[in-house]
Amino acid sequence: MISIRAASDQDADDLPDIERSSGTIFRGWPGLEWIADDTVQSADEHRALIAQGVALLAEDQRAGTVGFLNGELTPEGLHIWQIAVHGDWQGQGIGRRLIAAVCQLAVEKGATALTLTTFRDVPWNEPYYQRLGFRTLANDAITPRLLKVIENEGKAGIPVELRCAMVMQL
Ligand SMILES: CC(C)(COP(=O)(O)OP(=O)(O)OC[C@H]1O[C@@H](n2cnc3c(N)ncnc32)[C@H](O)[C@@H]1OP(=O)(O)O)[C@@H](O)C(=O)NCCC(=O)NCCS
Repeated sequence: MISIRAASDQDADDLPDIERSSGTIFRGWPGLEWIADDTVQSADEHRALIAQGVALLAEDQRAGTVGFLNGELTPEGLHIWQIAVHGDWQGQGIGRRLIAAVCQLAVEKGATALTLTTFRDVPWNEPYYQRLGFRTLANDAITPRLLKVIENEGKAGIPVELRCAMVMQL
């Protein structure tokens, strides 16, 4: 049975492996296979996000941590930095539950929107978020903050033309 809870400091060391495992799904997507071996958030980065209070974890009673979502409150809403579900646990609705939980957390924290950046057209990225209620921003509607996020992704080696910015009003 899966439960969703706030992540704590003690969880941080487990999370990089979850993200590494989650990325294996990209091995089946021509052109983005390399994402499977890309850098993941470090345990220290997780600790910083946990301290800021937007860090959720999906936990199986027997297997322990199987997924996480983290983000940050911004003046435009709660920005999701990362969502990842362990490869053995994908496709069972855990991602959907993490998104539902962060919607609730965002409302509790007074945010009126969720934002994120992701890969265009990849079935478990842009179209998936659209199915969950996110809307892709037209290029001329991307806010300066989200443009900066995409610019920084470009500096980290991600082709920016493959990225999009999305928003869900709460
Ligand atoms: C995105 C992610 C967190 C979703 O987690 P999950 O627990 O598998 O999510 P769910 O079970 O709720 O849904 C998975 C969705 O992906 C789709 N999907 C998964 N694998 C797919 C594949 N190989 N081909 C087509 N669609 C696929 C499913 O159809 C499903 O969508 P639906 O519920 O609308 O049918 C997970 O795929 C993951 O960790 N991916 C790698 C990291 C990543 O891409 N993070 C997002 C960064 S913005």
